Amino acid sequence: MTDARTNELAGKVALVTGASRGIGRATALRLASMGAVVGVHYNSAAELAGEVVDEIAASGGDAFAIQANLSRNNGPATLLNGLDAALQDRYSNTAMDILVNNAGTSGRAAIEDVTEEAFDEIIQVDLKAPFFITKLALARMRDGGRIINISSMSTRAAYPVLPAYASAKAGLEALTRSLAAHLGPRNITVNAVLPGATATDMNPGAQDPEIAKKTIESIALGRIGQPQDIADVIAFLATDQARWITGQCIDASGGQRI
Ligand SMILES: NC(=O)c1ccc[n+]([C@@H]2O[C@H](COP(=O)([O-])OP(=O)(O)OC[C@H]3O[C@@H](n4cnc5c(N)ncnc54)[C@H](OP(=O)(O)O)[C@@H]3O)[C@@H](O)[C@H]2O)c1
Repeated sequence: MTDARTNELAGKVALVTGASRGIGRATALRLASMGAVVGVHYNSAAELAGEVVDEIAASGGDAFAIQANLSRNNGPATLLNGLDAALQDRYSNTAMDILVNNAGTSGRAAIEDVTEEAFDEIIQVDLKAPFFITKLALARMRDGGRIINISSMSTRAAYPVLPAYASAKAGLEALTRSLAAHLGPRNITVNAVLPGATATDMNPGAQDPEIAKKTIESIALGRIGQPQDIADVIAFLATDQARWITGQCIDASGGQRI
């Protein structure tokens, strides 16, 4: 369903990583419905990213797709070069306002089964890429901008099959606080959102009735999260209403394992 249009983010340029599906897709659609121009990043799902761009255009917004593999060291530069090219082409100006570091990979395995290659890929996509994307984005970000990092509730509740993922996300939260302090003088806020179980491709268990039933028992609000539940929190952090919130790690799990 297309969100009703508002103009809260009119004139803002947003980049959402991993926007081809799941939480990133819902976030791109939400920010666009609030008037932002949106860079829809993807890795492998070109067709899905194209559908997001088309949906935004059909509802009167502006968006474009950018491909970059964030498991590669050159991924962040490829991404920001793609953003520059699209913005230059459209607006003759490469400034941006909102960065949502959402792309992620989880790789479920207990430590005994985590190879060095798998560990490196998770750290690369979930921590190193957001670090260097942010570094590159800061050179383009207008004062008063927003950085929103998508972490996970696995940093506060133990999941034995997510040791590398939880470690990477904990690093992302530490980065969030560090950058919030550093970027305060530019009036740029930096926050993290911590989803709980959310019905996306990353979490097939959320769609399996038997597994979902057990998960729901751990959630105060009694249901699995939907991508829109998370996108609404991210979108709020991007608005002027959230101007006094920075350096925070905000749980968006419906009260899972509290
Ligand atoms: N779903 C949950 O239950 C849950 C819970 C806590 C936290 N989270 C976090 O929420 C964020 C979004 O997750 P989701 O559930 O929406 O996942 P998803 O549906 O699996 O989507 C993942 C997105 O990340 C992109 N991506 C994955 N590997 C990439 C790579 N190597 N290079 C570039 N892009 C890559 C994918 O791009 P392509 O499809 O184009 O390849 C896709 O757009 C992640 O940071 C995740 O850790 C999710």
